[in-house]
Amino acid sequence: MSQPTIESILHEERLFHPPAEFSQHAQIKSLEQYQQLYDKAKADPQAFWAELADTELHWFQKWDTVLDWQPPFAKWFVNGKINISYNCLDRHLTTWRRNKAALIWEGEPGDSRTLTYAQLHREVCQFANVLKQLGVEKGDRVGIYMPMIPEAAIAMLACARIGAVHSVVFGGFSAEALRDRLVDVQAKLVVTADGGWRKDVIVPLKEQVDKALAGNSAPNVENVVVVRRTEQKITMESGRDHWWHDLQAKASADCPAEPMDSEDMLFVLYTSGSTGKPKGVVHTTGGYNLYTHITTKWIFDLKDTDVYWCTADVGWITGHSYIVYGPLSNGATSVMYEGAPRASNPGCMWDVIEKYGVNIFYTAPTAIRAFIKMGEQLPNARNLDSLRLLGTVGEPINPEAWMWYHRVIGKERCPIVDTWWQTETGGIMITPLPGAVPTKPGSATLPFPGILADIVDLEGNPAPASEGGYLAVQHPWPGMMRTVYGDPDRFRRTYWEHIPPKDGQYLYFAGDGARCDQDGYFWVMGRVDDVINVAGHRLGTMEIESALVSHSAVAEAAVVGKPDDLKGEEIVAFVTLENNIAASDELKNELKKHVVQEIGAIARPGEIKFADALPKTRSGKIMRRLLRSLAAGEEISGDTSTLEDRSVLEKLREG
Ligand code: WTA
Repeated sequence: MSQPTIESILHEERLFHPPAEFSQHAQIKSLEQYQQLYDKAKADPQAFWAELADTELHWFQKWDTVLDWQPPFAKWFVNGKINISYNCLDRHLTTWRRNKAALIWEGEPGDSRTLTYAQLHREVCQFANVLKQLGVEKGDRVGIYMPMIPEAAIAMLACARIGAVHSVVFGGFSAEALRDRLVDVQAKLVVTADGGWRKDVIVPLKEQVDKALAGNSAPNVENVVVVRRTEQKITMESGRDHWWHDLQAKASADCPAEPMDSEDMLFVLYTSGSTGKPKGVVHTTGGYNLYTHITTKWIFDLKDTDVYWCTADVGWITGHSYIVYGPLSNGATSVMYEGAPRASNPGCMWDVIEKYGVNIFYTAPTAIRAFIKMGEQLPNARNLDSLRLLGTVGEPINPEAWMWYHRVIGKERCPIVDTWWQTETGGIMITPLPGAVPTKPGSATLPFPGILADIVDLEGNPAPASEGGYLAVQHPWPGMMRTVYGDPDRFRRTYWEHIPPKDGQYLYFAGDGARCDQDGYFWVMGRVDDVINVAGHRLGTMEIESALVSHSAVAEAAVVGKPDDLKGEEIVAFVTLENNIAASDELKNELKKHVVQEIGAIARPGEIKFADALPKTRSGKIMRRLLRSLAAGEEISGDTSTLEDRSVLEKLREG
C-alpha cells in the first residue's frame, strides 16, 4: 500500500453517492443544496458568516463589523462579546440536554465515566474558580499536559470560561519539548496528571513536568495542578504543586462565563513548520467558535441522538476542534478514549463502538492501515450496526485503505468524509458534506461553503489541471489562525508571502501539494515543505536535525521522510559524525534515544544512516531531494549538476 500518486488518482474513477436514506435526513441533503450554500457564501462571505454567527451562537453583545481584514491580519465579529465555554455548556442547561451525556470517557484499564452537560458545567466552573484562586487572570497562559482524561477537557473549558489562554502540549512530548513550549508561551500554571496510560505502559507525566521546570527553567510557572490518575509515586513540591481533587473539592461551582471579546486569544497550539522551532498557532474566540461549530454540525451531520467519537488526542488540533469545542458547542455526546489498539487488545476500538453504540467515527488513515493489518476478523466479530458516518483526517488516504474502511467498517452504507485541514485553519476546509457530495476514494472532494480554495503555482497563477500545484486559500475565514504567538512577522512570511501578494490580494499558502480533477475535486498529495507526516503526526525535519546535532557525537544531520506502508512516512536521518567518533549500531540506538528525549517518541528516527559527508550544493545547501530519493531506494533523477562533490553521492549510494 502506498500514498496516492498522481498516477493512482488519475485512474481513480470510482464514485460513491450518498445513500438516499442518509441524504433524506441529512443537515445538507443534496449537491444542489451544497452548491447553493457555496455560491451564497462566495457571493457575500461576510453576510454568510454573519447569518450563521447570529443563528448558531450565543453572544453577550453583538459585533459591529463582521470582518476587519488588514492582510494578513483578520478580525472577525469585531466588538462582539462571547464565551465559548458558555456556548459549549451553559446554553444547553436550559434545554432537555441538561442531563444528556456531554462526554463519555472510556479509560484504561477498564475505567469509564460519563459527564452530563450539567455535571461537566459544574466541574468546569469549579476548576475555573481553582484557576482564579491560584492567581490566573484573563489573558494569562496555562499549560495543559495531560492524558486523555475528562480533566483535560475540563481544564480547557475552565480556561476559556475565565479568559485564560490554554496551551495544550501533547502528552507524548518529552520534558525538553514541554519546557520549550511553556517558556515560549510564558505559562503561569501547568495542569498535568501523575501519569497517563499509553497502550499498556504508564507515561510519567508529572515527572516530565518536574524535569521541564527544574532549575527554574520555565520561570513564569508558579503553580502545578496534578490529577491523580495512575497513582504511581510522585513528588509534590510544596507551595508549587497541588492535587486537583483537593482544590476542586473546596471550589465553588458558581463561576459565570466571562464575556470575552470575539478576538481575545482562546488558545495557542504549537505545530511544526519547515524552519526553526515549532510555532505557537494563535486562535481567537468568536470566529473559532463559529467555524468549529458549523463544520461539526454539517460535516458530521450531527443529530441530537448521535454518539460521536473522534479518536484524536486533545494534544492536537483535531482534539481541540472535534472532541471538545465543535461537538460540545452543538450539544453533542462526544466520546473520549484513553486507549489505543495494541497486541494485548487489538479489537479495543470496535469494542468502544459496540459498547456505546457509536454513530459517527472519525479517525486517521494511519489507524485504518493498522486496522487492515490486524485483520477484518476483529471488527467483524463486533456489532458495528450503530455506525452511520465515517471520517478521516491527518494525511492523504490511499484508495485501498478508503475502500477497506468503506467495506469492512462502513458495511458499504456509511458515507466517508475525508477531511483536509490544518492546525492553522482551525477547522475542516475541504471535505464532502456526507448527505450531499458523492465521494471518490482518496479525494477530500470539495471546499466547505465559505472556503475559496485554489491550486496555484508559486506566482499565484492557477495551476494547470493536469500538473497540480500548491494548495492555497483566497479569502479569510472565521476559523483561521490569527498570528504566530509572539512573532507576527513569521506569520506573514510563512503563510501569506510565500506566494507574493498581487494587487493587495493575499493567498494563504497551506504547504500542501494538490491537484483538482475535471469535477473540481481536490486531491491532496502531501507536504511540499520540510514537514513530514509520521502516522498523522506533523514533524519538522529541522527540529529532528537540531535534536541530532545537539548530541556530542554528531557533526551534521539531514532528515527526510521515506514512504511507509503503515505510517505514511518514516523518518530517515543521514548523520555525519565528529572526527574521532566511530560509527556503530550502539551509537545509532543512542542517537534514536537522544531524539526521543529531546522531542518525544513520535520523532524517533526509523533509520539512521551514517555518512562521510552529505550531498551539498556549491553554496553549501544540503540537497534533500537526493537524500529523499536515496532513502526511498529510488534512482536519482533530475539535475545533479549543482552538486559540489559527486563522489559523496556515490558513497552514500554504496551505503
Ligand atoms: C495533512 C491536522 C491529506 C496535510 C488536522 C496538512 C491531510 C497537515 C488531510 C496538517 C487530508 C490533514 N488529506 N492530507 N484529509 N488532513 N492532512 O496541522 O499535509 O496536524 O498540511 O492538522 O496534515 O496537519 P495538522
